[in-house]
Amino acid sequence: MNINEKLKKYHQEHLLKFENELSLKEQSELKKQIESLDFSYLSYIGKPQEQSSASITPIDALTCEQIEQNKQEYENIGLNALKSGEVGVLLLAGGMGTRLGSDNPKGMFNVGKTRDLYIFECLINNALKVVKQVGKPFPFFIMTSEKNDKQTQEFLKEHNYFGYDSKYIRFFVQDMAPCTTFDGKILLEQKGRVATSPNGNGGWFNSLLNNASAKQLLQESNVKWLNVFAVDNVLQQIADPVFVGATLKSNCQIGAKVIRKADPYEKVGVMCKKDGKPSIVEYIDLGEEMALATNEKGERLYNFGVILNYLFNVDLLYKIKDKSLPVHVVTKKIEYVNDEGEVVKPAEPNGHKFEMLCVDMIELADSCLPFEVEREKEFAPIKNKTGVDSVESAQALLEKNGVTL
Ligand code: UTP
Repeated sequence: MNINEKLKKYHQEHLLKFENELSLKEQSELKKQIESLDFSYLSYIGKPQEQSSASITPIDALTCEQIEQNKQEYENIGLNALKSGEVGVLLLAGGMGTRLGSDNPKGMFNVGKTRDLYIFECLINNALKVVKQVGKPFPFFIMTSEKNDKQTQEFLKEHNYFGYDSKYIRFFVQDMAPCTTFDGKILLEQKGRVATSPNGNGGWFNSLLNNASAKQLLQESNVKWLNVFAVDNVLQQIADPVFVGATLKSNCQIGAKVIRKADPYEKVGVMCKKDGKPSIVEYIDLGEEMALATNEKGERLYNFGVILNYLFNVDLLYKIKDKSLPVHVVTKKIEYVNDEGEVVKPAEPNGHKFEMLCVDMIELADSCLPFEVEREKEFAPIKNKTGVDSVESAQALLEKNGVTL
């Protein structure tokens, strides 16, 4: 299908409305972008969410108490796996961090008070603690997006990767999806450029395999497990040997770090089983009855929230890589060029972005070990400027954990 046919098929001919004002180079770049963008995302707009008839039941977690009892054994198993090079880590850093409202990639945010302490630095410091225990670095993959790749790479290079041996680091760029108005018209972010946004944190394994250098490191170093984690939790423990050991010992295909919810309605995805298989139910879909349900001991049944720190078996990842994840249509503020050719920065949400999510990968496995961690020690997310899950709350938790800011 040539580009005109593609535009016609999806009713997007307006994307070329400023064509005559563009230089030949700009015209060709715009056409190249249109050619390569996946327009099939548009079909998800207005599609009613599939009403799942799956039966949701609770899942048992390995609790902090149980972990403490077998800590030494888990740690030994984990350290052995790390020493034999079976574990790699993967940082999801392709997000836009719109709620935080900084123009830079989130990892470049400085949480220091009396000194510089960047989010990337906090994470790498945590990884380096394990490197020291293991005696050598593990492969460290970093997913960026088209929007922040250059800046992220330059920043980390400039800071000498905060002491991590760069031979073990590989960057790869995730895929982008078009941004649209509420009625499905794709927006332009410049006269010669379609508005796009990273397509969520769910497609990372395919994006990694599309990058020759990252794929080579994964395959040559014979990594069997990948510890995937979010950029914005500054207390994130990376390649935690106890977590690795417990997951390996459990024979599960995935390990998921979980915390006890602060209250029944906390806005975190909750681990459960769907038709007997591990799954995560989003807080919006949990409903009052399930949120409050308890067992005979009075303990809440749906009480373990995920913190975006998973250990995935790599064989499983190859097995599920061609299975499609659900596409979530989200409502966001999207900067665009109006009919007069002026850039508009909307104050209110004005359209849709499309995302696939890492949480949806869990359902594709047969087994997953929810592994409880103490929230005060491992969960300090930075999502917002102020209030809940903000720079201030994360700073307070860092200080509580003995980090000088
Ligand atoms: P969030 O869901 O918090 O999204 O990401 P975000 O884009 O960073 O922030 P907002 O919603 O715009 O405020 C959770 C994790 O997933 C990564 C983020 O970088 C973060 O580590 N992520 C998110 C990606 O890697 N790619 C994406 O497309 C979205």
